[in-house]
Amino acid sequence: MCTSSVLSPSIFMAFFVAVGCFMAYPEVVTAKQAGITRHYTFNTKLKNITRLCQTKSIVTVNGKFPGPRVVAREGDGLVVKVVNHVPNNISIHWHGIRQLRSGWADGPSYITQCPIQTAIINQSLQTGGGPNVSDAYTFNGLPGPLYNCSAKANFASKFRSLATTMFPANVPQTVDKKFYFTVGLGTNPCPKNQTCQGPNGTKFAASMNNISFALPTTALLQSYFFSQSNGVYTTDFPAFPLHQVNYTGTPPNNTLVSNGTKLVVIPFNTRVEVVLQDTSILGAESHPLHFHGYNFYVVGQGFGNFDPENDPPKFNLVDPVERNTIGVPSGGWVAIRFQADNPGVWLMHCHFDVHLSWGLRMAWIVLDGKLPNQKLPPPPSDLPKC
Ligand SMILES: *[C@@H]1O[C@H](CO)[C@@H](O)[C@H](O)[C@H]1NC(C)=O
Ligand SMILES: *[C@@H]1O[C@H](CO)[C@@H](O)[C@H](O)[C@H]1NC(C)=O
Ligand SMILES: *[C@@H]1O[C@H](CO)[C@@H](O)[C@H](O)[C@H]1NC(C)=O
Ligand SMILES: *[C@@H]1O[C@H](CO)[C@@H](O)[C@H](O)[C@H]1NC(C)=O
Ligand SMILES: *[C@@H]1O[C@H](CO)[C@@H](O)[C@H](O)[C@H]1NC(C)=O
Ligand SMILES: *[C@@H]1O[C@H](CO)[C@@H](O)[C@H](O)[C@H]1NC(C)=O
Ligand SMILES: *[C@@H]1O[C@H](CO)[C@@H](O)[C@H](O)[C@H]1NC(C)=O
Ligand SMILES: *[C@@H]1O[C@H](CO)[C@@H](O)[C@H](O)[C@H]1NC(C)=O
Ligand SMILES: *[C@@H]1O[C@H](CO)[C@@H](O)[C@H](O)[C@H]1NC(C)=O
Ligand SMILES: *[C@@H]1O[C@H](CO)[C@@H](O)[C@H](O)[C@H]1NC(C)=O
Ligand SMILES: *[C@@H]1O[C@H](CO)[C@@H](O)[C@H](O)[C@H]1NC(C)=O
Repeated sequence: MCTSSVLSPSIFMAFFVAVGCFMAYPEVVTAKQAGITRHYTFNTKLKNITRLCQTKSIVTVNGKFPGPRVVAREGDGLVVKVVNHVPNNISIHWHGIRQLRSGWADGPSYITQCPIQTAIINQSLQTGGGPNVSDAYTFNGLPGPLYNCSAKANFASKFRSLATTMFPANVPQTVDKKFYFTVGLGTNPCPKNQTCQGPNGTKFAASMNNISFALPTTALLQSYFFSQSNGVYTTDFPAFPLHQVNYTGTPPNNTLVSNGTKLVVIPFNTRVEVVLQDTSILGAESHPLHFHGYNFYVVGQGFGNFDPENDPPKFNLVDPVERNTIGVPSGGWVAIRFQADNPGVWLMHCHFDVHLSWGLRMAWIVLDGKLPNQKLPPPPSDLPKC
């Protein structure tokens, strides 16, 4: 559960929200009463926690691990004040909350906001010393089984959703746009005057469609909203890999990746299919891919290379599972579908911290729709600044 994030520019925490009382008080759901606003304060701090006979310094919220429970009813507003007492930049993201037209509150640093900077710098400036050096261990909030994705992928493939006439699975039956993204490892040349620990003295990298995603120094959502993309990002993330190879066969000798801050742009309400294909470059591995801002349907998966002729007829378009994170099987592929009904900039990334920091991430821009309720509202006044 604990992974080092020394390579990350900021610690990225994921939380789960307990939405309580639905079963006990069904009238709360049916009454659709106006919600209340609930206030929480999160003080992030390092704490030594012992798990599996090992003690590690990890980031906790209010000194608790796992973090505190946040209770809310459907329709409530939640205001969470985060005070960062850790010497690293931090951002907080909730799995399971779609942030429908509220992308400003989604969390990931340099995607939808600048990170929450440390309050410790102030203390160290006062004492005249440097901030304490920390181990900077973090947990990403995912439950244990996700860490073994091949096991999980096999497990998950046995599931069907409980689609009924009352609660149908609204999986797009036809799609407007198809994407094929490779996910995998690679290398970057070692910078001069540095020794690198990667294969052949190179630097490990990870990529989607051979592009290692470089984080900008300002938030993408802000750049997009204020039409200031120049020098921050480009909109040429390829829909398919530029070089087609046998992704799961003998890996190429050249393991280099390219890098850039490239995004995909799609119009509001586009019905999308994405096939995520693992590669064998530097070893096949399963990758838990998480998509912000959306739930998607897992319509198919398999081992080896995705076959665009023979695999789609086997897709489950009746009762597929709906998820926001999916394990791409090691040496295999998974196909997902979603309707782009949430305007904004949304990160898609491997949830292994180390792969994430190596660049296994990309982002989507979903344009505004025509109606007022299909547009991204302006940012809140207290959005963290870079
Ligand atoms: C954790 O334990 C180490 C080793 O005992 C100690 O040096 C460090 O100060 C502790 N950190 C915290 C946050 O308690
Ligand atoms: C540091 O303290 C000053 C003065 O109290 C405050 O204005 C500033 O926002 C603080 N910075 C951080 C990063 O907390
Ligand atoms: C930094 O370390 C010193 C000595 O271990 C400790 O007294 C102080 O509280 C630490 N400061 C922070 C912000 O953790
Ligand atoms: C992950 O699961 C697979 C299949 O069950 C197993 O062979 C492998 O050893 C596991 N890996 C780890 C790191 O637990
Ligand atoms: C590389 O190392 C050499 C010798 O130590 C030094 O003269 C040179 O400035 C360094 N170059 C860079 C780019 O750091
Ligand atoms: C490592 O470098 C050697 C010599 O430059 C080369 O022959 C070999 O193919 C490289 N291996 C990898 C995995 O890049
Ligand atoms: C981008 O590529 C350059 C040149 O290969 C490399 O030095 C740099 O580390 C890469 N940046 C990222 C964020 O991967
Ligand atoms: C890809 O490579 C694998 C392993 O060598 C092989 O079994 C498979 O037939 C190859 N697929 C294609 C389309 O060439
Ligand atoms: C890859 O490297 C091997 C060993 O150096 C060589 O025999 C082979 O021809 C290379 N393949 C390609 C496609 O360059
Ligand atoms: C990835 O990009 C690098 C740099 O442009 C290139 O050398 C390499 O061949 C590409 N690899 C694949 C599999 O497309
Ligand atoms: C923390 O965030 C600020 C604002 O984006 C940035 O200037 C600074 O370099 C970051 N610090 C680290 C250690 O990444």
